[in-house]
Amino acid sequence: MKLWGGRFTTAESKLMEDFNSSLSFDKTLYKQDIAGSLAHVKMLFKCGILSSDEETLIIQGLEQILSKIEDGSLAINGNYEDIHSFIEAKLTDILGTIGKKLHTARSRNDQVAVDMRLYAKEKAVDIILETEALINVLKELSIKNDGVIMPGYTHMQRAQVITLKHHLSAYISMFKRDIKRLRNAIEILNENPLGCCALAGTTYDIDRAFTAKELGFSKPVDNFLDGVSDRDYLIELLSAFSIIMMHLSRLSEELIIWSTKEFGFIQISDEFATGSSIMPQKKNPDAAELIRGKTGRVYGALVSLLTTMKALPLAYNKDMQEDKEPFFDAVSTIQASLKIMAEMLKSLKINSSKMKEAVKMGFLNATEVADYLVLKGMPFRDAHGLVGSIVLYCEDKSKAIEDLSLNELNQFSHYFDESIYEYIEYQNSLDKGIKKEMK
Ligand code: ARG
Repeated sequence: MKLWGGRFTTAESKLMEDFNSSLSFDKTLYKQDIAGSLAHVKMLFKCGILSSDEETLIIQGLEQILSKIEDGSLAINGNYEDIHSFIEAKLTDILGTIGKKLHTARSRNDQVAVDMRLYAKEKAVDIILETEALINVLKELSIKNDGVIMPGYTHMQRAQVITLKHHLSAYISMFKRDIKRLRNAIEILNENPLGCCALAGTTYDIDRAFTAKELGFSKPVDNFLDGVSDRDYLIELLSAFSIIMMHLSRLSEELIIWSTKEFGFIQISDEFATGSSIMPQKKNPDAAELIRGKTGRVYGALVSLLTTMKALPLAYNKDMQEDKEPFFDAVSTIQASLKIMAEMLKSLKINSSKMKEAVKMGFLNATEVADYLVLKGMPFRDAHGLVGSIVLYCEDKSKAIEDLSLNELNQFSHYFDESIYEYIEYQNSLDKGIKKEMK
């Protein structure tokens, strides 16, 4: 039986019923739906719209449905249009006529808006905690590898010496900003749409501030049409999720490159790699590749919902049912990706000697050699050119700059004396440069 069957004379086509039904995916919202109904019923009693007995019975009925769903004795399936119809039908099975009073002064439009806001808020909080856990793993990895130096890159070419700690702390900064974005999105969405009803509120004298408080919202929404018909808060969260995935994907990309034989900077644990069915020697960084791949999927959810919403007239339109699957999918994708990344980093092996070797053969103290000549009185542009020819010479001889004798250096310039070796020592460059920033 449909919730809205009254004005219809012909039954819905089976094709249409299947096309319209959202139960297979909005069953995810059963907890939020029951929480919303509990707050609503308490408010209806407080405002004198339901009697005390009716309130008590409906609350007991809803709690019974919740515990049966949770213990597995009530499966969410069957010929119901959505989770809202399912729960109302189950309540009516238990209570008879009284169950039918639950929906007084409410529409599924404000009901689903409440469910989605509660769900979005809860998941955003979980994702903040998971991002914080990842930050802690990055910090531990830095501490474990304190003092490890590596090349810093621009254009994927070795540029200047940095520490692994500095590299990892760039990601820590990114993830900290991601958390700020999520907190901000939560603050913006934290308003109560319950009581907007279909689009124009209700003639009953209801108390929206009461349900706001019951459900943990900061206040009721200002405008009824807006409350039931915008999904900007989901779009904002999807945008924040996409940025987190973008950061995870860049980190994944680096782990993939660093774990190649060509780099050899790190070793990803066997737990997070797979082999090849044909090439026995292979160990593939699948976990990192999947995070990189799933990033596209989360971007897809963002673009999908932006597109769904872009031409909808006010207020509710059924198109908006299409918010759920992409949002739920993005939530589970980002949660899995954050967890896998944290676990993969916990078991990561750093090959510090390979990193150091890349620093040495990358002429990463060339800028310091030029700075040295400038201190001795040479104009920077001339120093830059001169060090360029030293690098060419070193490449020819397969030597690092610090491996050249003073004699060799003096063939390029008489400004060089013994002090050059200490000046271009990698640790000294770090102390003079990056360390300042870390303070
Ligand atoms: N399943 C619907 C959705 O997700 C619930 C709201 C239905 N409202 C309506 N007027 N048919 O959007």
